[in-house]
Amino acid sequence: MATKKQELLSTHFRNIETNIRVEIIKFYCLKNNLSRAKFDLLYPELKCSEKEFSYYEKQAKLHLNGKDLTFEIGYKHFYNLKLSIVKGVFVPQFDTETLVDYVLKNYQSGCGFEIGLGTGAISLAIIKNSEIAMIGIDSNKKAIKLTEQNQKENSLETKEFSFFTSTFPKVNIEGKVDFIISNPPYIDRDDRFLSQWVKQNQPPEALYAKNNGLAFYELIFANYKKWLKPGGEIILEIGFNQKNDLFKIITNNFKKYNFYKDIQGHDRLLVLKT
Ligand SMILES: C[S@@+](CC[C@H](N)C(=O)[O-])C[C@H]1O[C@@H](n2cnc3c(N)ncnc32)[C@H](O)[C@@H]1O
Repeated sequence: MATKKQELLSTHFRNIETNIRVEIIKFYCLKNNLSRAKFDLLYPELKCSEKEFSYYEKQAKLHLNGKDLTFEIGYKHFYNLKLSIVKGVFVPQFDTETLVDYVLKNYQSGCGFEIGLGTGAISLAIIKNSEIAMIGIDSNKKAIKLTEQNQKENSLETKEFSFFTSTFPKVNIEGKVDFIISNPPYIDRDDRFLSQWVKQNQPPEALYAKNNGLAFYELIFANYKKWLKPGGEIILEIGFNQKNDLFKIITNNFKKYNFYKDIQGHDRLLVLKT
């Protein structure tokens, strides 16, 4: 009999893509001593072949012995995309899908500008699932190269998406956009909640911002008028504990704003109406 926790997690995993088979096997087959037969009963939709199962099991054992497989696996699912990942470019996180959800619920066309593309996760998910045109920048050349690779690998070359290396706020784009979107660096250097994995594997320039993690937001608030149409929106990922600090900055500068939570119930998204 599956425990309550296993049932709950099983339902959760049914809703997400199966690239995390390694994780599932790690947690369920090894930690909970599930046999192959029980695994199949709990996760019939995963349909692992015998060969795949032994491969993942072997990898999971290595993982449990301390070997990190993230970059060896080499890809991550984000929304309905399969994205290549490499060391030196920010690995996308599930929480960030909250931003894409917001855009797809509120826009079907128009043009958006993303600051800090990383793998291209946000912009590629938007262009794949709508008729929105995107413009994107990143200060990291490796991120721009990876975005290009991910665009090709997901067959999205025919969609309207232009991107280039540029360091915000020194950026020129033609015309003005309907929304600016960003998952900017927002972590304080002394943040005690940051995991060891993040510290060791995510590029520092993707993570840290001065002034308690608020400096990049302030930079956006000081410059957005150059690229945003009057009445346009600024859509930002925020740290789960930054709502109060951000609230103090925005109340004086924006007429309307809303905070939204991610699927885990953490404050994750701030939308500012200009
Ligand atoms: C937290 S990552 C987000 C990546 C991606 N959008 C995602 O959500 O997975 C922040 C990104 O901003 C980029 N970045 C940092 N400072 C920047 C700047 N001044 N101008 C442009 N990009 C910058 C980093 O290289 C990194 O790729």
